[in-house]
Amino acid sequence: MSAADSQRGSPEAARPAPWQATVLTIFPEAFPGPLGLSLAGRGLEKDIWRLATLDIRDFATDRHRSVDDTPMGGGAGMVMRPDVVDRAIRATAERPGPLIYLSPRGRLLTAEVARELAAGPGVRLLCGRYEGVDQRVLDKHEVVELSIGDYVLSGGEMAALVVLDAAVRLLPGVMGNAESPAEESFERGLLEYPQYTRPAVWEGRAAPQVLLSGHHAAIRDWRRAQAEEITRRRRPDLWARYAAQPETAAASGGGAGRDETSRNDQVREQD
Ligand SMILES: C[S@@+](CC[C@H](N)C(=O)[O-])C[C@H]1O[C@@H](n2cnc3c(N)ncnc32)[C@H](O)[C@@H]1O
Repeated sequence: MSAADSQRGSPEAARPAPWQATVLTIFPEAFPGPLGLSLAGRGLEKDIWRLATLDIRDFATDRHRSVDDTPMGGGAGMVMRPDVVDRAIRATAERPGPLIYLSPRGRLLTAEVARELAAGPGVRLLCGRYEGVDQRVLDKHEVVELSIGDYVLSGGEMAALVVLDAAVRLLPGVMGNAESPAEESFERGLLEYPQYTRPAVWEGRAAPQVLLSGHHAAIRDWRRAQAEEITRRRRPDLWARYAAQPETAAASGGGAGRDETSRNDQVREQD
């Protein structure tokens, strides 16, 4: 394990064991990267979670520390060797959490997946490079594949950072009450309502009057209506699921639109 393994924090009897992230990569220097900042970084400092990186090259056996070879059957690029990746994976056998290969072919990362990961003891993330990893080692270890979106990155490191950030911010104690996820996009199957801060009028644009009213029920209703309308316009897929829920079906019929269609909405509507 590298020096990125964070072992700080004072043990307290009632405290849950730290959530353990283990990343297998040929670029361990990419970590913690932005995970050392802000919420996730404070979580590391408070020992709510720990991060260990494993350099896959340490498991190569030749003097060039080779981790890749040409694709069998021909074709462009290189493929990560099964023997080297296998040794690296076996070295993490005692580490907690499912073994996940970041891959564009995988299950899509969603808020639900992030919640599932955060609820467990941790995660082991295998970062691919080149054209990916030899299939046999993925099959041998029954690796779960996880994608962060329908596009191709150069390597799994950026995807690992995204997965870890999405999960770590949900760990108890990482977000304060003031930063609770309860109102955030996807938490109730809706996108979030628009946010405003001071001044009340900026460059001639006034913030919605209701937000200055001090009337909590009216503010809550306005936010809910905005969240519903934005979701309906921008994400028909989410909206259909939300509107089908028995508790929301009755309320969702007419939509709640009081604002004009924004440019974001127009982009979606032209699709
Ligand atoms: C250049 S990509 C390989 C793409 C692969 N040849 C394909 O077409 O599916 C190299 C590595 O980046 C990572 N990667 C690329 N796109 C990703 C995505 N959308 N989600 C998660 N990981 C991704 C994977 O670990 C992958 O092995």
